[in-house]
Amino acid sequence: MLSSLLARNQYSSRIPSFREAFSLLAGRPLRWVPQLLGFLVVIWYFGPIIRGGPPDDYIYELPLPIQHPHLPPLYKPPTASANDWKLRSHQVREAFVHSYKGYRDHAFPADELAPMSGKIHNNFNGWGVTIYDALDTMWIMGLTEYFEEAVKVIGEASYTTKPKQYVPFFETIIRHLGGLLSAYALSKDPILLQQADRMGEMLLPAFNSESGLPAYAISTRTNATRGGWTGNTLWAEALSNQLEYKYLAHITGKPEYFEKAERCMQLMYEANVTDGIFPTQWNTKTGAPSNNKFSVGAFADSAHEYLLKQWLMTSRSETKIKDLYLNASKSIIEHLLYITPNREMLYVTDADMLKPSPPKPNASPESPKTTTQGATSIPSSVPSGTFEHLSCFLPGLLALGVQTLDLPESEKEIHSWAAEGLAYSCWLTYADMKTGLGPDVMSMKMYPKNEDGLWLPRVEKWKQQGRSGRPPGLREPGAASEKAGRDYTIYKRSYLLRPEALESFYIMWRTTGNPVWRERGWTIFQAIEKYAKTEIGYASIVDVDKSSTKAPVKDEMPSYFLAETLKYLYLLFTDEEIIPLDRWVFNTEAHPIPIFEWTETEKKLFNIS
Ligand SMILES: *[C@@H]1O[C@H](CO)[C@@H](O)[C@H](O)[C@H]1NC(C)=O
Ligand SMILES: *[C@@H]1O[C@H](CO)[C@@H](O)[C@H](O)[C@H]1NC(C)=O
Ligand SMILES: *[C@@H]1O[C@H](CO)[C@@H](O)[C@H](O)[C@H]1NC(C)=O
Repeated sequence: MLSSLLARNQYSSRIPSFREAFSLLAGRPLRWVPQLLGFLVVIWYFGPIIRGGPPDDYIYELPLPIQHPHLPPLYKPPTASANDWKLRSHQVREAFVHSYKGYRDHAFPADELAPMSGKIHNNFNGWGVTIYDALDTMWIMGLTEYFEEAVKVIGEASYTTKPKQYVPFFETIIRHLGGLLSAYALSKDPILLQQADRMGEMLLPAFNSESGLPAYAISTRTNATRGGWTGNTLWAEALSNQLEYKYLAHITGKPEYFEKAERCMQLMYEANVTDGIFPTQWNTKTGAPSNNKFSVGAFADSAHEYLLKQWLMTSRSETKIKDLYLNASKSIIEHLLYITPNREMLYVTDADMLKPSPPKPNASPESPKTTTQGATSIPSSVPSGTFEHLSCFLPGLLALGVQTLDLPESEKEIHSWAAEGLAYSCWLTYADMKTGLGPDVMSMKMYPKNEDGLWLPRVEKWKQQGRSGRPPGLREPGAASEKAGRDYTIYKRSYLLRPEALESFYIMWRTTGNPVWRERGWTIFQAIEKYAKTEIGYASIVDVDKSSTKAPVKDEMPSYFLAETLKYLYLLFTDEEIIPLDRWVFNTEAHPIPIFEWTETEKKLFNIS
C-alpha cells in the first residue's frame, strides 16, 4: 500500500524520509478509511474474546463409555447467542467456585458450610459430604486443583463410624458412593475406585435384614443397623442403591454388590403390586407393603427414577425393570396427575389408594347393576392436593422415557405432554413468587369433586372433541403475582437450593431442543444469585414470597447444591453435551454413571438372565 502511494508522487524516484511519507499519508486520509474500518471490525468481532471471555480449555475430554442406541438428542441452535450461553455457563462455574471456596476456607473437611456464620455443619456422617458431592462437578467444570486436593483427602478416609454412630444408608449411597463412582468413571483415578469399593463393602450389611430390604442406618464399626422413625423401609430407600451397587459390581467384579441390590428388585417383582402402584413404605422384616400411599414425592421419588435408569444403565438388558417403570408411570399419569380449576395448572400429587371394597355380605350377587354402580361412584384414590418441589424431577424422567423407550404413539404423546405441562407448572411456581424462586411445597386448589380434576380423562375428552388448541394442562397461563390468582397456596415457603426443577429443564432442553427451558433456567439462576448468595457461599431462602428486594436466608448450604443444582445449570448453559444422555445416567444426586453392557462372564457370575 505504501509503495503504491509513493509510486504516484514526485518523490517516487527515491525512498522518502519518514516525515515526507507521513505528510503524504496525512494528506490523503480518505485512503485509510477502509483499512481503519476493517481494523475496527476485527477489534469489534474478536474484542470480547481478547478481553477475556471464558477460557475454551476448561472442558476436559471425557472418557467415552460405550455407544448406546438412544435416539440422538434433538438440538436446535439456542436463541441467545452462543457467546451469551458461554458466558452464562462461565458464571455458573464462578458460582460453584464461590461456594466451594467458601466451604474450603471455612468448613473443610466437615460436612457442610454454614454460609452466613462461616460455621460448620456435621449433619451427615462427618465424612465431608460436600467434598464427595462436589467432586464430579469439579471435574466437569475443569477445576483440577480442587479435584486433586479432594481426591487426596478422600484417599485417607476410613469410613469407620464412631461408637454409637450410625450413618444413613440411602443418603450415603446416593451422595458419597455416587460421588466416588462418578468421579472414578470420569477421571479413572484408582484411589476413587478403591475408596468406592471400601465404602460399598462397609455399607453392605445394611441389607442384612430378613427380607433383604436395607435398614435406614448402619454402624460400620459393628455392622449393627437401625430403623428410621417410620420403622419401615421407604420405597425410595429400597430402590435407590441399584445404579451405584450394580456399577460397583461391574467395576470390581464382586457378585455380592449385584446380589444385594438385585434382591430388592426381586422383592418388587414378587410383591404382585397392582398396576405398578408401589406404596411408599415397606416392612423391613417381611418385605411386604405396609401402607397404601402412592407418591412421586418424598419417600418414593428416586425409586421411580431408578426403574428407568437401571434399565438404561445396563444397556437395556434388564427388561423386567423397564416393565416396572412402564406400569408405575402409567399409574402415576392415571392417578396422580391433576389440573387446577382456573389456571389449568398440571401438577402431580400423592394419593391414598383405596382397595376395591369387598362386596357387602347382603348384596345379592345376581344384581350386577348395583355392584357396577357402587364401583363407579367410589373413587379409587384420595389425592392430598399437595405438590412438592421434590416431584419436579418427574417431567425430566418422563421426557427421558419418551426419548429412550419405544412407546406406542398414543402413549408417547401422553408422556411428553405430561412432561411438558408438569415442567411448566414447576416453572410457574418460581415465576409467581416475589423472589422468582419456587416454594418447597404447594397446596393446590382442587375441584369440588376431586376426580373432576384428574388430568387424563380431560385429555381424552379434548382428543374426542377434535383436539382444538393445546391439550389441557399445556396452555401455559402467565405468572400470577397475586395470591388470589394462583390456584394454590404455599404450604412450605422455603427454597432450599433444590435442583429438581432445573434438572427437568435440562432434560427437557436436551430431549426437545426447545431453548425456552434454558432461558427459564437462566432466570432462576439470576434469582439465586440475587437472593441466595452470601459473602462465602449460597444460603437457603426462608420465604420465597416475602419481598421482592430482600429475602431472609437460613444458615445452610446443602451439599446437593454443588452436586446437582449448579451442575444442571452448568450443563444447561453449555452447548456441548458434556455428559451425553445416550452414554450416561444421572443418579438421583446428579452423579453421572456410565452406561455399560454386562459381559458374558458377569452374566454367569451374577446370575443375570
Ligand atoms: C461387617 O461386615 C463386613 C462385610 O461387609 C465384614 O467384613 C466385617 O467383618 C463385619 N464386621 C463386624 C464387626 O462384624
Ligand atoms: C406373587 O405371585 C407369585 C406367582 O403367582 C407367587 O408365587 C407369589 O407368592 C406372590 N407374592 C405375593 C407376595 O403374594
Ligand atoms: C405390569 O402390569 C401388567 C398388567 O397389570 C402385569 O401383567 C405385569 O406383570 C406387570 N409387570 C411387572 C414387571 O410387574
